[in-house]
Amino acid sequence: MKKMNSMALVLLVVYGVMCSQILPAFSSIRLNNRPIIGILAQENRLRDPQPQGTSYIAASYVKYLEAAGARVVPIRINLTDAEYEKLFYSINGLLLPGGEVDLETSQYARIAKIFYNLAVKANDDSDYFPIWGICLGFEQLTVLTSGINVLTKTKTQGVGMPLSFTSDAMESRLFGFFPEDLMQALATEDITANYHEWSLSVQNYTANAKLMNFYKILSTNTDGKIEFISTMEAFKYPFYGMQWHPEKNAFEWVDKSGMSHSPSALKAAFYTADFFVNEAKKNFHYFEDEEDESKALIYNYCPVFKGQDSIFIQNYYFD
Ligand SMILES: *[C@@H]1O[C@H](CO)[C@@H](O)[C@H](O)[C@H]1NC(C)=O
Ligand SMILES: *[C@@H]1O[C@H](CO)[C@@H](O)[C@H](O)[C@H]1NC(C)=O
Repeated sequence: MKKMNSMALVLLVVYGVMCSQILPAFSSIRLNNRPIIGILAQENRLRDPQPQGTSYIAASYVKYLEAAGARVVPIRINLTDAEYEKLFYSINGLLLPGGEVDLETSQYARIAKIFYNLAVKANDDSDYFPIWGICLGFEQLTVLTSGINVLTKTKTQGVGMPLSFTSDAMESRLFGFFPEDLMQALATEDITANYHEWSLSVQNYTANAKLMNFYKILSTNTDGKIEFISTMEAFKYPFYGMQWHPEKNAFEWVDKSGMSHSPSALKAAFYTADFFVNEAKKNFHYFEDEEDESKALIYNYCPVFKGQDSIFIQNYYFD
């Protein structure tokens, strides 16, 4: 993967000028200004000392989307395929959060696959439905697209890193409209929080035709030995994956290495959320009626404070 940071910055300036001419057309697109985004729950972590339910969603993901103007619906585990399908046609986008469950045998994997297949079909039928995979969610997307697990172990637990942007990043949908100072910060400051054991190496991505044809690589990183993909977007679908955690910058407070709350780290959090919520605004699914919608929303649940030294400061528990 080529690293062309200074070249990229020049392109960014040029592109910024171009974009200002594209904007009027863009803003005339009809938008759904009341988007509701599903966040997938998962089986509890083994290391969670006092779970108050059999599955959970870390509250940071909920706040992350709410801060950008979306409402959230939890997608609980163990429902029937038909219930997930109904939910799919009620929501405007899906966030696959980070976590620790198995990418093939967990409920998380099962449900992600149901939504992924529905989303591919919807988008093929001009029903715009975005998916945002963070960390485990990124890894899950690679398994869903390729049909196999080609991830490899990396030393990337608790490390903040700058992104090595590819030359494609500047014309990408995801980064294309980011302000220049934020792109500069992302390229030079340790503001992307990495908490993953597994990664998609550039080598394995390049060797897998399904992944190569589906995703455009926007940034890479390395653990010193293995170069891996840190941000990607699908060529033809509004599907996005980041191996790093934008939501932690603003909403997680465990005092660990890799965590940054600097002004540019916060900007990275909010600009990524803003981008995704705007993608969800292009979808027009809706709940059958207001009662259905009210019952589904996250407001029916109370997050539990897990302590300042917990990896997730608050969790939502289900069932
Ligand atoms: C989901 O199903 C599994 C297996 O049947 C069960 O062990 C687990 O407790 C269930 N979880 C929920 C949230 O219903
Ligand atoms: C490539 O994928 C295989 C699994 O198919 C995995 O065992 C291997 O570690 C990966 N290698 C790299 C360099 O990513």
